[in-house]
Amino acid sequence: MDKKITVIGAGNVGATVLQALALKDLASEIVVVDVADGVAQGKALDIWQTSSVFGFNARTVGSTDDYEMTAGSSVVVITAGIPRKPGMSRDDLIKTNASIVKEVTEKAIKYSPDAIIIVVSNPLDVMTYAAYLAAKKHPNKVFGMAGVLDVARYKAFLANELNVSPLDIQALLLGGHGDTMVPLKRYTTISGIPVTDMIDDDVLDKIITRTMKGGGEIVNLLGTSAWYAPGVSVALMVESILKDQRRIFPVCAYLDGQYGMKDICLGVPVIMGSNGIEEIIELDLNAEERELLETSSKAVKNVMNVLDDLKLF
Ligand code: LAC
Repeated sequence: MDKKITVIGAGNVGATVLQALALKDLASEIVVVDVADGVAQGKALDIWQTSSVFGFNARTVGSTDDYEMTAGSSVVVITAGIPRKPGMSRDDLIKTNASIVKEVTEKAIKYSPDAIIIVVSNPLDVMTYAAYLAAKKHPNKVFGMAGVLDVARYKAFLANELNVSPLDIQALLLGGHGDTMVPLKRYTTISGIPVTDMIDDDVLDKIITRTMKGGGEIVNLLGTSAWYAPGVSVALMVESILKDQRRIFPVCAYLDGQYGMKDICLGVPVIMGSNGIEEIIELDLNAEERELLETSSKAVKNVMNVLDDLKLF
């Protein structure tokens, strides 16, 4: 296995992605890049020094803005950009993060033209769209991580409420990575048992609302956004790609007519394999779910308009 993975941004999320990928031993080399002098090297070195303790071989290497070191990567994860502070929505970050995401995507693609790109920077759906425009690649190879994280939060809350293992919960969310995301009760089961058989509707509604605001709950507690759950969620996607597991995840994907939507990146269930998005799964939504998805897509479109106004593309 001589695969290389690149993580762009050595902040909290980037470093957690790096560590999670190393622990899963998913490549022979994992490069982390950051503009801040020494930070990427320092974090990569610190994580490499855990290799004998955890028992992994993947070499973690840091780079201060030198993309030549990333050449030939199979997967590039983009975490670069500023995180939220209390009182900010993910959308408030667009002006700063859009130009960062454009620049790093172009630099990464120059050295790894065949790479699959996973975007993590916020506002997620629009940053995924920006990376798609910058990369000029097939949409199956450029997508965003949000649904895996949002579902993980939903499962954690359900596991608390039911006092069961989070491993036995299956669930799905659609739509944008924001307060308009669409959790699907109909597709939530506990080892195959419909969640509605086990939780009263009003309690489930509260859990869904908490999930939708899950990122903000952490921002309010920490003064900055989450990194552990986002980081490991990315690693799950990279694993499914590099091992061609064909796992089904909700992923922020470029839609070209699916769900009746065009030219927008939005969370939908996909099969994730060695080609990135192998297939977008189109669910037969009921009227209520469809309306929620429409509302979510409108919220994402509003932020896309801000991206348009920036005239970066
Ligand atoms: C969150 C950020 C990373 O949801 O979007 O925590």
